[in-house]
Amino acid sequence: MAERLVIEGGARLQGRVAVSAAKNAALPALAAALLTTEPVVFENLPALADVTTISRLLERLGAEISKGAAGETEVRVAELKSDEAPYGLVSTMRASVLVLGPLVARSGRARVALPGGCAIGLRPIDQHLKGLARLGAEIRIENGYVEARASRLKGARITTDLVTVTGTENLLMAATLAEGTTVIENAAREPEVVDLAVLLQSLGARVEGAGTERIEIDGVPELGGGRHRVIPDRIETGTLLTAGAITGGDVTVTGVVPRHLSAVLGKLEEAGVALEMGEATIRARGPERPRATDVITQPFPGFPTDMQAQVMSLLGRADGTSRITETIFENRFMHVAELCRMGARIETDGASAVVRGVSHYQGAPVMASDLRASAALVLAGLAARGRTEVSRVYHLDRGYERLDAKLAQLGARIWREP
Ligand code: EPU
Repeated sequence: MAERLVIEGGARLQGRVAVSAAKNAALPALAAALLTTEPVVFENLPALADVTTISRLLERLGAEISKGAAGETEVRVAELKSDEAPYGLVSTMRASVLVLGPLVARSGRARVALPGGCAIGLRPIDQHLKGLARLGAEIRIENGYVEARASRLKGARITTDLVTVTGTENLLMAATLAEGTTVIENAAREPEVVDLAVLLQSLGARVEGAGTERIEIDGVPELGGGRHRVIPDRIETGTLLTAGAITGGDVTVTGVVPRHLSAVLGKLEEAGVALEMGEATIRARGPERPRATDVITQPFPGFPTDMQAQVMSLLGRADGTSRITETIFENRFMHVAELCRMGARIETDGASAVVRGVSHYQGAPVMASDLRASAALVLAGLAARGRTEVSRVYHLDRGYERLDAKLAQLGARIWREP
């Protein structure tokens, strides 16, 4: 039977906790290893179900992956054995689509299952495909698969119709081996895109402008090996700080890059959380009761959609009414009904949720629907009176490395039951 998390609410979290490496930087970084025959060494991959899934996919494609001392992982794709990402893997993890750009760039062909919908919305990949077509790939969609072919990709100017994180990453990776210069306009500016560019540069790629809306790539005939340290997970950092805040506790997260969290920290302050920033630490001291504030999700540097659910749990306890607007995904309010089962007063109205704060949550059995929704339910459980049981905890394990253990280390009464 699937595991559940049991939480006895009410403990004020206190202490220091180290953040893990970022899931959403590790996944494209692993896919980038497909671009070279040489070994790429990752110093700090997080132990996450999604990292295992993409590692399996890479192995199917021909990668040899070995673990070294001190937590290092070496990935080497000396020879591609397949060009196919099968439906079984892509349907468990949409980010599998990140192999599309590297495969077509390296071998001139790729066959990747169309991801289809997921718990947080439709999430098409049309911008990835349009960009690859601009680079000269011939794209066909047949039997639920995308087939991309090109003898060698050719640099081009690409303007995406909307800001897409993995779309930018796919095109950035593909362009590193294209002939000539590629310019990606309206590029995603997320720190994870910058981290990928840093890795690609260390492999010999010529990339400029990552972190701005215009990325320029001068294609090279081949890339070499390299070594990479993945950036800290800004969403895990935000989640741990919110755990401190929602329990009225005092939590310091270490190993962080504070500037990756500006929008989240701004909202926590508006909610009455006292913050102290060090060079690589952030300390959050929670108010007795948060203040209401409005939140609107935006591409980076705006407020991240991946923190929307967790901040809703915080504002659900606020003194006053908040409005939370989700602009990135059309169906990312699955946590609302579950929070209401814990006593929250939240109504959705299209892309907005009106959150009328309650003084306390009540513990209840609840069900996780996706990764960040699970985190939101755990946070509410920490602050609730009584016992909360979160089922389908595998959603949490996709993207948080031992979140329950880290929370327990801060004094939470939280454990797993079969
Ligand atoms: N979109 C399109 N067409 C495309 C690509 C995107 O219409 O070709 C739409 C999407 O449907 C969505 C919006 O554009 O409405 C933005 O999607 P984006 O492509 O930026 O999302 P993603 O790259 O699939 C990454 C993260 C998500 C995170 C989003 C937004 C990874 C592996 N995933 O997804 O992370 O929510 O960016 O920041 O990097 C999570 O970690 O919980 C998670 C869902």
